Amino acid sequence: MRYKKGQFYIENVSAEKIAKKFGTPTYVYSHNKIENNINNFKKIFKTINPLICFSVKSNSNLSILSIINKFGLGADVVSKGELIAALKAKIKPEKIVFSGVGKTIEELKFAINKKILLINAESENEIIEIEKIAKSRKKKINIGIRLNPDTDAKTLKKISTGKKENKFGLTERKFLELLNKYRDSKLINIICLSVHIGSQITSHIPYKNMLNVVDKIIKKSKFKFKYIDLGGGMGIQYKKNFKKLNYSKYNKLIKSFLKKNNSDIIFEPGRSIIGNAGYLISKIIYIKKTNSKNFVILDTAMNDLLRPALYGAVHRILPSKINKTKVLKKHEFVGPICETTDKFLNVLNYQKINQKDIIVICDVGAYGIVLSSNYNLRPKPPEILVNKTSTKIITKRQKLNNII
Ligand code: LLP
Repeated sequence: MRYKKGQFYIENVSAEKIAKKFGTPTYVYSHNKIENNINNFKKIFKTINPLICFSVKSNSNLSILSIINKFGLGADVVSKGELIAALKAKIKPEKIVFSGVGKTIEELKFAINKKILLINAESENEIIEIEKIAKSRKKKINIGIRLNPDTDAKTLKKISTGKKENKFGLTERKFLELLNKYRDSKLINIICLSVHIGSQITSHIPYKNMLNVVDKIIKKSKFKFKYIDLGGGMGIQYKKNFKKLNYSKYNKLIKSFLKKNNSDIIFEPGRSIIGNAGYLISKIIYIKKTNSKNFVILDTAMNDLLRPALYGAVHRILPSKINKTKVLKKHEFVGPICETTDKFLNVLNYQKINQKDIIVICDVGAYGIVLSSNYNLRPKPPEILVNKTSTKIITKRQKLNNII
């Protein structure tokens, strides 16, 4: 589908053309894919009518956030920087939630000044600080409290957040205790229960378990929450044969939950909105042949895309031009960085490729550029937005002069 006459296309622009025009490595996003992802997300949960707060940590590019705003989404932010970016992209404060275990007092004050919808507090100490700010301003502040439901998200261990051994949220006992403490507070207005059990979730079962825990706690507390913030975590298909989240089952679970609990739902999706809309285009520097495998050495590396090195994540690597010659040998796609983990993918056989050929690393829109660094003093790649036939630079390539 994405190949036309044997050439890889992002909307109506070929990867070859992008590489020629902007150089490599380069991040590219498809406007159309973002739009489709948003529309599909809205359609699936239409009857729930949720507030969808895009998780800015997955991609904080201002042009991307402006698209998010154009389609009416809010934002889930975790730092002052992300909050400023969301506001700069004209996302309305009343559609912004602030999460995170370690918000500084300065960040809390800043968020309160900006009149965002709510702050999802994750510890008693944090609530005490919010209370102090409320007292000094003589106003009641809206907060959510994040629950740690002790639910296994059955995802990569390193991106699981909802188990009791993880630093996130509060245990059931502490949650109920704080609810009682602040129930009649004149300074703290608890309007939300929030949960987020992890990322890249591909089964509805962890969500089911989480909703059961939430339901049980609401019953115990006899508290009416205006909002239930279910976080994000919806997984995407990094490979064709990978498991796919059954959204319609998740939707049904939420609907039956809402029959018992009349609240508004907030979602905080990141990956499911932007993940498959991003590509990393790279050029082959060398192919080093050994007896057991061919090392395909790319001009992109773990500093540009950290996920494989950090989590063992898999991203497909596709040739920009297809040919019919197969090389029956193991290929290992690696970067030039002096680290053994600077490795993207192992494939058993690959089509014939040569030095200077262009390849495309797929599904890098979420947690791609945001996790990039200048390791090995490598400048960060530019970001390009493709919309039909047009290409626009939305972040320039870093210049060595500016990082040395
Ligand atoms: N809400 C909260 C409170 C979160 O911590 C996260 C992600 C999200 C929402 C968005 O989750 P999503 O819908 O994107 O799964 N760097 C890792 C993922 C870390 C996710 C951190 N929290 C990766 O590259 O897979």
